Amino acid sequence: MRKYIRKGSIVILDFGGQYAHLIGRRIRECGAFSQILPPQTRAGALNGVAGIILSGGPQSVYDKGAPHGDPKIFELGIPILGICYGLQWMTKVLGGDVKAGKTKEYGKTRIQISDFRFQISALFRNLSEQFTVWMSHGDEVVRMPYGFVQAATSDACVNAAIVDEERRIFGVQFHPEVTHTEYGMQILKNFVGFCDAAPWSVKSFHLWIREQVRKDAGDKSVFMLVSGGVDSTVAFALLNEVLGRDRVQGLLIDTGLMRKGEISEVQSAFKKLGIINLHIEDACDEFLSALENVYDPEEKRKMIGKTFLNVQHRVLTTHYSLLTTNYLLGQGTIYPDTIETGGTAHADHIKTHHNRIPEVQSMIDRGEVIEPLKDLYKDEVRRLGEELGLPHELVWRHPFPGPGLGVRILCVEDVADLKFQIPSTKFQENLKIQVPNTILPVKSVGVQGDSRTYKHAIVLFSDSKLPDEEHWRLATEIPNRCPEFNRVLFCLSHSAHLEFVLTPGYITREQTRLLRSADAIINEEMHAADLCEKIWQFPVVLLPIGVKTGGQSIVLRPVESTEAMTANAARLPEDILHHMTERLMALPDIDAVFYDLTSKPPATIEWE
Ligand code: XMP
Repeated sequence: MRKYIRKGSIVILDFGGQYAHLIGRRIRECGAFSQILPPQTRAGALNGVAGIILSGGPQSVYDKGAPHGDPKIFELGIPILGICYGLQWMTKVLGGDVKAGKTKEYGKTRIQISDFRFQISALFRNLSEQFTVWMSHGDEVVRMPYGFVQAATSDACVNAAIVDEERRIFGVQFHPEVTHTEYGMQILKNFVGFCDAAPWSVKSFHLWIREQVRKDAGDKSVFMLVSGGVDSTVAFALLNEVLGRDRVQGLLIDTGLMRKGEISEVQSAFKKLGIINLHIEDACDEFLSALENVYDPEEKRKMIGKTFLNVQHRVLTTHYSLLTTNYLLGQGTIYPDTIETGGTAHADHIKTHHNRIPEVQSMIDRGEVIEPLKDLYKDEVRRLGEELGLPHELVWRHPFPGPGLGVRILCVEDVADLKFQIPSTKFQENLKIQVPNTILPVKSVGVQGDSRTYKHAIVLFSDSKLPDEEHWRLATEIPNRCPEFNRVLFCLSHSAHLEFVLTPGYITREQTRLLRSADAIINEEMHAADLCEKIWQFPVVLLPIGVKTGGQSIVLRPVESTEAMTANAARLPEDILHHMTERLMALPDIDAVFYDLTSKPPATIEWE
């Protein structure tokens, strides 16, 4: 679909912080449309925009290669809010000074509004004189640019906020977009209040996107890969609504990596809406053979993405020859998918989304792809799905990754690849670890700062077979203080220390069956306890480790989140954990069950 900058929107120039999408999400909650653009976007391209937010970023403004914006944006006469790095870049450009602070500030801190005058004016309206904010910076503003006044201070940062009321240019050193900042939403609302933003809602988006899809499709048809997940389901229903069933053909590929009963559920939901243009293709063998000898998580995503395209080409040419010359590929890509893959220039590469593998990227460059949801966040997609008449249970299902169980079966090529250092006694003393623990001989993906990590997990054991406050404390402390680890697990099945045996291998049919059964057990238990809608997502992961050769383990990874950019491990009730463990341990070859206690960051939601 065409690139555009919408008039009346609030633009976030992304200087590379992991929070650009959080800012975007919050601005939408304030009722204005937000768009994330690269920092170097020219001021001329921003005519008609209602306001600009300069995001945070991991660098110092004086670093070689640090991102810079176009200084002419300050001549546009629209409100501008700089956050963290955004404030520092703005200060430098407008003639102030930024230096390394005496102390780095990370985490919660109190700030004091400098003068009552500012409390009642503008940015700090309707909040108290002192409040808690989230800071994450080494540099700070030491001299304000001409025309600015200090608006807030903290113990370690004199210019925690600066404002030029007359020009409506504001800067805050803290992060108003994160929930740890008290009044963060109020500050953003106050900023939006300055902007002459066009009102925005899912309803207004629905009307707008219908027009946009018509324009972008022109006289072409759309061939859409439906994965069974919420996003592609909603995108397919929308395309059907706008273009009609004669111009849209859906393809649901059975990859063999889907959950139990998934295909029939999706099919029957579409049938109820009268959508019958969905072809089901069994390609289980093809996917399994493409994954033979593939061990690396990124490589798996690429192979799965490529196999999707191969099957799609085959189905197109055998069944729908009329479509082949004049069609667009439809995808259910949503907004955050375009940044977690480095979609904007400065967001570091975290995971390659299977919708953005090089083959699809070149189709996008040639204008052959239509992605009607690529401006929406997950909860907005869900609300749109309900507007389109899709059933509540389907739309509010937990997100499921496009590569399916493929990224939930960990593969290891060779034991020798996993050399790691046993934590020293000093490390154990430092962390005050007084509980039995061991390092897991597999690695998983995490995210620290803006970078992807690939590190070991550590497992804690206890007689109680359930985590207590000390285990939850260690789940935060260990990755914070010991960078070799990005995850902390609790062993639910055994109280005593286990000697693990690793069985190298790639994904097999037996493993997909085993994980599908384990996943179905968890689903049943969560439904029975009526807990499904209380948590965001519950990956169930299969690890190639056990107490005997060929033995496997299961990791339970329930998380709470609002947009998947950050997440907390969900605390499940004792009886449910016990029951789940008992049922999982009764499965053939399952030797152990673990509970993942880590937040995102430092771990990601999925293990790969
Ligand atoms: P992570 O693991 O990065 O996941 O915290 C964030 C969200 O994205 C989902 N996810 C994917 N979805 N293709 C997808 O369609 C993928 O390759 C992929 N990887 C992760 C994940 O389930 C979570 O909701």
